[in-house]
Amino acid sequence: MSNDAGRLEGKVCVVTGGGSGIGRAVCLLFAQEGAAVVAADVNAESAERTAEAILSQDGRGTAMEVDVSQAESVRRMVESTVEELGRIDVLVNNAGFGFAATVVETEEADWDRLMSVNLKGVYLGCKYTVPVMIRQGGGSIVNTASAAGLVGVPDRAAYCASKGGVIAMTRAMALDHVGDGIRVNCIAPGSVESPYFDDIFARAEDPAALRRQMESRHPIGRLGAPAEIAQGILYLASDDSSFVTGSALSVDGGMTAH
Ligand SMILES: NC(=O)c1ccc[n+]([C@@H]2O[C@H](COP(=O)([O-])OP(=O)(O)OC[C@H]3O[C@@H](n4cnc5c(N)ncnc54)[C@H](O)[C@@H]3O)[C@@H](O)[C@H]2O)c1
Repeated sequence: MSNDAGRLEGKVCVVTGGGSGIGRAVCLLFAQEGAAVVAADVNAESAERTAEAILSQDGRGTAMEVDVSQAESVRRMVESTVEELGRIDVLVNNAGFGFAATVVETEEADWDRLMSVNLKGVYLGCKYTVPVMIRQGGGSIVNTASAAGLVGVPDRAAYCASKGGVIAMTRAMALDHVGDGIRVNCIAPGSVESPYFDDIFARAEDPAALRRQMESRHPIGRLGAPAEIAQGILYLASDDSSFVTGSALSVDGGMTAH
């Protein structure tokens, strides 16, 4: 693994949802950039696979099991990271999921579960990490929102609400912690080829038609790749974005440019 650029050299970075898709791509890129990476995921095996991939490329990677919707689990993730690695410079609150439904079709239990992972999970990650960053004199937090938090997407009411909440909380937190040397930003991806979409395609009546419809929402004419989103997250996480806080960076093939 080459550390030529080393934009995160010496930094400790925690990435939730690090076992799959965008989170896995972020872990691998951050390690290439010199970071010690904690791949944290509710799926412990997938987090292990990410850590192994990092180690096999001579990077620094650790796997951790976490359920971001549970305060005690998140508190332990933060405590263990500080015990093992001494600090947390970057937190990427990336764990999340979605489902297709209008408000009327959405069951209350499904609404609660989505909010507890996509929105409360970001709150809990920040709640336990910000005090560590304050003690250190600063840090960078990147939340994975979505284009669906900026514009309406049909049949995704709860998901849109959760990601709109992430964007609003990002802005509020940026103001609350600017004096602590902590920058807080979010990334707003368009549709990305990840296991998340593999599931959606697999369940579709006509997967090819669904793919064409999703591609057509992006003026660039295709879905994104996890590695393309990871580049945006790297920018927000690193000192390259030292004058950026409270922003929602669109990496969406032009989806929200309409
Ligand atoms: N794929 C897309 O098109 C797309 C677009 C915009 C935003 N996003 C967002 O990007 C993030 C990552 O999505 P992805 O596409 O890589 O999906 P993914 O399903 O490939 O990965 C999500 C990861 O989060 C983990 N996770 C789920 N619930 C968790 C919990 N309670 N605690 C800890 N980990 C948990 C899963 O185990 C999985 O490893 C999500 O927040 C998603 O909403 C995805």
